[in-house]
Amino acid sequence: MTINVTNQDILNTYHDCLIDSDQTVLMGRDIALSITQATTIFLHGDLGAGKTTLTRGFVQALGHQGNVKSPTYTLVEPYEVGQWNIYHFDLYRLCDPEELEFMGIRDYFTNKSLCLIEWPQRGFGLLPQADIELSLTYNDLQREVSLTANTDNGQAIIESIKSRRI
Ligand SMILES: Nc1ncnc2c1ncn2[C@@H]1O[C@H](COP(=O)(O)OP(=O)(O)OP(=O)(O)O)[C@@H](O)[C@H]1O
Ligand SMILES: [Mg+2]
Repeated sequence: MTINVTNQDILNTYHDCLIDSDQTVLMGRDIALSITQATTIFLHGDLGAGKTTLTRGFVQALGHQGNVKSPTYTLVEPYEVGQWNIYHFDLYRLCDPEELEFMGIRDYFTNKSLCLIEWPQRGFGLLPQADIELSLTYNDLQREVSLTANTDNGQAIIESIKSRRI
């Protein structure tokens, strides 16, 4: 089998090993500090992979000082920080994607919104395209993180993350 990796693929992706939960928090922080415009991030990964931990780093880096709880039962937790409305979704318990229609899902995606969405596959067809698809996977007790950009905004964020982490 031949795998073709182009320069564009390399520009559009970022990969790292996160050896403990503090590093997952720092990954979330570095993403947050790279944001310049409204952004949607899909957070992929098994139960307990670290999606909420990373979101905590993201939300707190932008100035939120309280807890960041998993919105498993409420589906979404809003935070207002500085110029941004942050919406942390967890769609694990979504039974039918149509529930997203009832909650007015489209209204959450404005030019002031930063949307982080756990279990986005449960909302398939009703969510906008993500700027970044982020995956967390288990590696023994540690985690691997991969980011892939789908948009120019996503690509700019990944370039900024790389410049912070070299
Ligand atoms: N890089 C890491 N190495 C080891 N443990 C980690 C790492 N990152 C996070 N954890 C730990 O993994 C556990 C689960 O994290 P978290 O709740 O963020 O997962 P999740 O992906 O949001 O799960 P769920 O799908 O159930 O919402 C926490 O105890 C957290 O401290
Ligand atoms: Mg979670």
